[in-house]
Amino acid sequence: MLDIKITRTTCPKEKPQDESKLGFGKKFTDHMFVMDYTEGEGWHDARIVPYAPFQLDPATVVFHYAQEIFEGMKAYRTADDTIQLFRPECNAKRMQDSADRLCIPKIPVEDYIQAVEALVDVERDWVPHSDGASLYIRPFVFANDVGLGVHASKHYIFCIICAPSGAYYAEGINPVRIYVEDEYIRAAPGLTGFTKCGGNYAASIKAGELAEEQGYAQVLWLDGVHRKYIDEVGAMNVFFVVDGEIITPSLDRGCILGGITRKSCIELLRHMGYKVTERDIEIGELVKAYDEGKFDEAFGSGTAAVISPIGELKYGDKHMTINGGKIGPISQKLYDTLTGIQWGKLPDEFGWTVKID
Ligand code: PLP
Ligand code: COI
Repeated sequence: MLDIKITRTTCPKEKPQDESKLGFGKKFTDHMFVMDYTEGEGWHDARIVPYAPFQLDPATVVFHYAQEIFEGMKAYRTADDTIQLFRPECNAKRMQDSADRLCIPKIPVEDYIQAVEALVDVERDWVPHSDGASLYIRPFVFANDVGLGVHASKHYIFCIICAPSGAYYAEGINPVRIYVEDEYIRAAPGLTGFTKCGGNYAASIKAGELAEEQGYAQVLWLDGVHRKYIDEVGAMNVFFVVDGEIITPSLDRGCILGGITRKSCIELLRHMGYKVTERDIEIGELVKAYDEGKFDEAFGSGTAAVISPIGELKYGDKHMTINGGKIGPISQKLYDTLTGIQWGKLPDEFGWTVKID
């Protein structure tokens, strides 16, 4: 159990008045959680302090070699004013998997959860009240050694910041347009695709910018070896409904992030009685299904994006408009159920939510 020292701010910021204008990750709360790691001593000095910049030496390892990992979670306000988290132990465990791959010391699952809960408790007034808005939580760890040698650092900082946020895409629950990327790649077997490390995102920015220039919200990545199997979208896992079957890329090749929303969608859909198959999906298979009129629905899943219907997929010269560019019935049902559980409007039969008293 961590001994968290809390220092409260003496000059709290003004909370956002108009929650419809929150956007995603633009404004941050009054406090942050910080904990240090020193080789030989372990994680120490857990504290909640006023939100402030770090002062770092220009030769700090993270600036040069990107030894950094992060997580993404949300705190939700329910109708009876309870604040709750969604499956926080899954994020804590995933951060351990990322840490292992990046040679970063692991944070014990119970310490991670305690830190998140303590910070959200301090910031509970910052959790938005309006439908669809939540407090986005960003835990991250970075290497804090000073020096230019390429080695695992001996010092790290674990920090958690929070941002009251609305929809990730301006489109909200309206379908997004997605561009299938067949030149640049994001991951390959043996690399870091299955982790949530900053480097994965740095490598993805160029393709994302090019897609945006053409009016697409994000790219759909193909596998790095054959350029034909579907991996995931920039900030979401993907699901397709083809000829009545729900399919999603399997995690087996180690190239996609094991999304907590993905896992929850699979469990919910199976609970609703649908068959969901995790397997390799070739982009050509989707094109064929589209031409045969069997490509029924597509949607992305992620903490920030929740369930985001895909209204159009562009692959080369092929423009595939899915379900007439509208949200499909399975996507809508899943969105309603998942957000119902997260915002406490539906009973949580699975024990996924964790209340912060
Ligand atoms: N894939 C990538 C690359 C992501 O950044 C995210 C967002 O965290 C996801 C998938 C979805 O993961 P989760 O549902 O755990 O948020
Ligand atoms: C999340 O969904 O939590 C994410 O981390 C997405 C982020 C890359 C914007």
